Amino acid sequence: MTQASGHAESADTAARAERRWGAVSVAIIAMLVVMAAYAGIHQAVMPQARVETADPSTLHIAGEFIESNLGSAVEPDGSVTVRAIGQQYSFTPQCIVVPTDTPVTIRATSADVMHGFLIQGSNVNTMLVPGYISTVTTQFPAPSDRAMPCHEFCGSGHEGMWGRVRVIEKAAFLKLAADHRRLTCVAQ
Ligand code: CUA
Repeated sequence: MTQASGHAESADTAARAERRWGAVSVAIIAMLVVMAAYAGIHQAVMPQARVETADPSTLHIAGEFIESNLGSAVEPDGSVTVRAIGQQYSFTPQCIVVPTDTPVTIRATSADVMHGFLIQGSNVNTMLVPGYISTVTTQFPAPSDRAMPCHEFCGSGHEGMWGRVRVIEKAAFLKLAADHRRLTCVAQ
């Protein structure tokens, strides 16, 4: 074997190795693209793990969100569930009362268009979408009064769509809850 042919052979080997590595990196990129596409499409076409619906046209007539069922209720496990609806341009109840140091689950929906649902100084910040129930869990450490504005433009009266949240001592709340099935702080 001459020196020249030896050079040519090793150049050949190097080129082959480079092509192999090139092919491997292209394969890795292709695999990542397929994975990303699969994950994205799969997520978009599969139903969410938990979607609860509520027909906005019958909200006031039947089901979980009839007026007598709105407000705060103590559950058998000691937690509190708050049910509320948003509509142009108010919340029902306008004033939500909740206890301190208690897990609070808010279940809310919209009777008409999309509204925002936010409780100042808390992790509660969601949308009320007609047809769907929004669920948020939170807890309030101390008695306080908090603003609850609609933060999604929902029409000409949007700026005036505000509710309130009153956090009261747990003992006081439980005392009130003893003689009321649903609590609110409307007109207080
Ligand atoms: Cu409701 Cu903005």
